[in-house]
Formats: sequence, structure tokens, C-alpha cells
Amino acid sequence: MIYLKTPEEMRGMQVACDLVSRTLGEVARWIAPGVTTNKLDTIAREFIHDNGGRPACLGYGGFPATLCIEVNDTVVHGFPSNYTLRDGDIVGIDTVTEVGGFNGDSCYTFMVGDVDPKVRQLLADTKESLCRGIEAARIGRRIGDISNAVQTYCEKRGYSVVREMTGHGIGRRMHEDPEVPNYGRRGTGPVIRNGMCICIEPMINMGSRNIVIGRDGWTCQTKDHKPSAHFEHTIAFYDDERHILTTFDYIQEALGDRFI
Ligand code: MF3
Ligand code: CO
Repeated sequence: MIYLKTPEEMRGMQVACDLVSRTLGEVARWIAPGVTTNKLDTIAREFIHDNGGRPACLGYGGFPATLCIEVNDTVVHGFPSNYTLRDGDIVGIDTVTEVGGFNGDSCYTFMVGDVDPKVRQLLADTKESLCRGIEAARIGRRIGDISNAVQTYCEKRGYSVVREMTGHGIGRRMHEDPEVPNYGRRGTGPVIRNGMCICIEPMINMGSRNIVIGRDGWTCQTKDHKPSAHFEHTIAFYDDERHILTTFDYIQEALGDRFI
């Protein structure tokens, strides 16, 4: 069931989304060769607590950390570890913060040092596919319009779209209806209405779309071990308009001319 939110509840969503955006901005400052992903997790957890939030991933379905860490061929849901980031890596940081009972969800894939131009292009194109998905998300249109916009943009460029995981509704729960797949047909799926709040999160592979889930039951990697990129925004619809509740502005501020 899609739970439609009141404008009052949307104000709560905006507060949670502000914190998740600022958290990614804080993490961005620390991303460099030589830093462990455990260190990033500690920074995020403390930042969220210091700013009146709760790290919603920690303990969610047994997930053991604040951040989902997605290095190179990891698609989603990787654990922080003593792995040290290396020059040439890409690392997706996906997290959810809860404030006042509402959840904000966002993800950004960062470059560590000098990255292969083709991988850099994968990141730029995946980020642009998120923008295309957002652009297609209009009141009165359907979820499939978003899905199709993302899929078309990515497949035209020779990438593949992960199908097993999707975007989702969000609110008092991290995952609510509807599902927001990154592939599909225009004019299909639920109609987008005032009161909806959704996460659009393309997970795009350089090689084949096939994935494998690790023995920890969470870590999702590409089967061919080619790189995968992931970007996510939380989007709300109210007052007959689309509102992007999360922002990459804090990341841009942290990265300066290294921002893509
Ligand atoms: N953005 C991710 C998702 O929607 C956040 C997952 S948090 C976890 O799946 F706890 F489930 F890992
Ligand atoms: Co999400």
C-alpha cells in the first residue's frame, strides 16, 4: 500500500533528508587513498548522532553498519571493513538517517585519486541517469516512466541495469511501496500523486547485469567483477510539485573541482 503523506509529514522528511545529505558531505571530506572504510563508517555514525539523528541502516534486518560501502565491483550493501581505499578505486556510500521518525536515503559514488576515464564516465552517466529519472517523475505520470528513462539512458551507452534491487517508497519506514525499478515500460506502474515520497537509485554496471550475493547474505557484487555505480536521491511530491529532498551540494562543497 502506498502511504500518502501530509505536507506536515513532508516537512519531517525534509529534515531527515537534510541530515543524510550533510552526512554524505562529511564523509566526502575523508575519502582518499589510505583511508579504511571502517573509518568512514565511524565518521558517519558520530556525525549522525551529533546532529540529532539515528543511523537507520545500523541493525536494519541485521545490517551491521551505518554505511553501505560499494567498492569497485560491489553493487550495493557492502560492509565497512579494514579495507584501505586505493588510488583508482570507486566507492559508493549509501546511507539512511532517521530524524523524528522519518527516514532520508541517499547515495553517491566517489572516485579515489585517479580513476580510469571509462569508469569516471560510468559514474557521470549513472549520475545523469538519476537526473533523467527525476525529470521523468511528474505528478500524473507513472513509476514506469521513471524506470524507462533510467534504463533507456543507460542501455544506449552500453551499460546494463541491475534488476534484482530497486528504488522504493520511503517515510516512517526506510522501504515503503511503491517499488521503483530502474528498468521498465512507460505508462506502467502506479500513478505519481501528491503525498508520495520515493527513492530513485540507479545501480548501473559496466559489464553484464548479473550479480551475486556474498556469503554474508548482504554484499552484492557484479558477477563479472566489472565496476558498478550507484546514485540516489529521495524525492517528494506535494503542493502539485516535485521536490528533491536530498542534495549533493554538500558533497560538491567538500570535493571542489574533484566533484563530477
Ligand atoms: N539505499 C539502500 C536501500 O534502499 C539502503 C540500505 S540500508 C541497509 O536498500 F540497511 F538495508 F543496508
Ligand atoms: Co534506497
